[in-house]
Amino acid sequence: MSDAKFYITTAIDYVNSRPHLGTAYEKVTADVIARYRRLRGDRVFFLMGNDEHSLKVEQAARQQGLEPEAYCDRMEEAFTEVWKLLDIDYDDFIRTSQERHKRAVAELLTRIHANGDVYQADYEGWYCNGCEAFKNEGDLVEGRCPDHVGLELAWLKEKNHFFRLSRYQDFLVEHYAKEADFVRPEVRKNELLELLRGGLKDISISRESASWGVPVPFDPDAVVYVWFDALINYVAGVGWPDDEARFQSWWPADLHLVGKDITRFHCIIWPAMLKSAGLPLPRAIFGHGFVNLGKDRMSKSLGTIVDPKALVARYGADAIRFYLCAEATFGRDLEYGEDRLAIRANSDLANGLGNLLSRAISMLIKYRDGVVPAVPTDCASAAVTARAIEDYRRAMDALDLKGGVEAAMSIVIHANKLVDDEAPWALAKDPSQAERLDRVLYELLESCRAASVLLGPVMPTKMRDLRLALRCEAEAPRLEQAAFGGLAAGTRLEKIAPLFPRIDPPEES
Ligand code: MSP
Repeated sequence: MSDAKFYITTAIDYVNSRPHLGTAYEKVTADVIARYRRLRGDRVFFLMGNDEHSLKVEQAARQQGLEPEAYCDRMEEAFTEVWKLLDIDYDDFIRTSQERHKRAVAELLTRIHANGDVYQADYEGWYCNGCEAFKNEGDLVEGRCPDHVGLELAWLKEKNHFFRLSRYQDFLVEHYAKEADFVRPEVRKNELLELLRGGLKDISISRESASWGVPVPFDPDAVVYVWFDALINYVAGVGWPDDEARFQSWWPADLHLVGKDITRFHCIIWPAMLKSAGLPLPRAIFGHGFVNLGKDRMSKSLGTIVDPKALVARYGADAIRFYLCAEATFGRDLEYGEDRLAIRANSDLANGLGNLLSRAISMLIKYRDGVVPAVPTDCASAAVTARAIEDYRRAMDALDLKGGVEAAMSIVIHANKLVDDEAPWALAKDPSQAERLDRVLYELLESCRAASVLLGPVMPTKMRDLRLALRCEAEAPRLEQAAFGGLAAGTRLEKIAPLFPRIDPPEES
């Protein structure tokens, strides 16, 4: 068992719109990783939160006739309701309007200022309200932000505070070279290295004309630029600067999980801020892909969103989580299709795993009065399970969630093949095959149990139900418990309702 600590964070969401399947993808996959680490025995802290200080949030509040604070309170409820429905088990939820966060922002700015990394200058240039980012001419396509073609860019002319990002270019290039896993996947690292080698410009870190934000500690008339503010949540969330002991016990973060559109902020600006403030850098940043609908990324501004609440009502959280992990290689984009979700729910879960469990229990009741036979000393399923555990561990350690699911499902596939090959109903007719039938029945049930341990991080509720059906310890198993032979002989099982009811495929649209 490991005694390592694992501090994982997601990006904090802008609250100008409700969560959608695209933003949920990141939270679900982070939750799967956090649960896997708990399964390994790590001490885990999983932080999520909301990014409340931006112009677009303020505008969304005003449009509804609300003050930003009141609006953000409502949005916190809207977000956490969805995260709960999706079974996301975070340890803390930070909001950038909280005092603890504002304290951290003020302290970090004070430190980098004292370090000589902040100066005042005029900023004149484009600003995209969609990205909440200052844009160079080179970032634009036909005078528009490529990620927000529907939005007019704003021309800003302000006296702002600047952060000497340019000072950290060599440091960052060296850090990337030294820490091979700092930025993943490789494709993201290469993009960022190219950006780094092209040269870093100092960045504006305050807004003179905005009022909804954290005041700059050395210039109370200005507020901190929303990205500079937001990144600091990762240290504020573990007690910095007020609770040194707590901070020391969790920082540095082991993994910042963010979308591929915001790696530049996390892999360049954030490490430079930390270095300037004298704080250690996070261990790793992973830039995941987008959930796309058609050719476009799922996004409110493009009008291409799928509501997770409606999906949960139809498929349940576990089938959605399974689909999000299994459908695309983690790090690449996922092409969303409800038909694919329904196929996975029906073929992998209802027919694959659910049916295996129901059949195994029914046959046990029919042929052995519901009593689990002795653990076989040598059987193919034991070897299949041992290999699956190894593959699963390797894949999950490398954040290959699809590989992890496939390793776990290899146990189920093997067991279903065993049913076809061994035909237990035929064995039951021949008394000389009694021992063989005992072995097969045990293998089928035990395969379900072992798979449930590995699939627990992906489908926490259903895998708990599965273990309960097998009269096993339901809560928080350890990875070691996936090893073949855990199901106790002599246990009496009863008939169960289908674990994954079949779902009618969606109608063609
Ligand atoms: N507030 C900033 C993050 C600050 S972190 C210090 C932000 N917010 S966001 O609401 O626009 O996005 C939150 C996260 O969701 C980002 O990691 C973003 O990449 C991710 N996604 C937004 N749309 C997505 C998809 N369609 N698919 C996958 N992830 C998506 O950026």
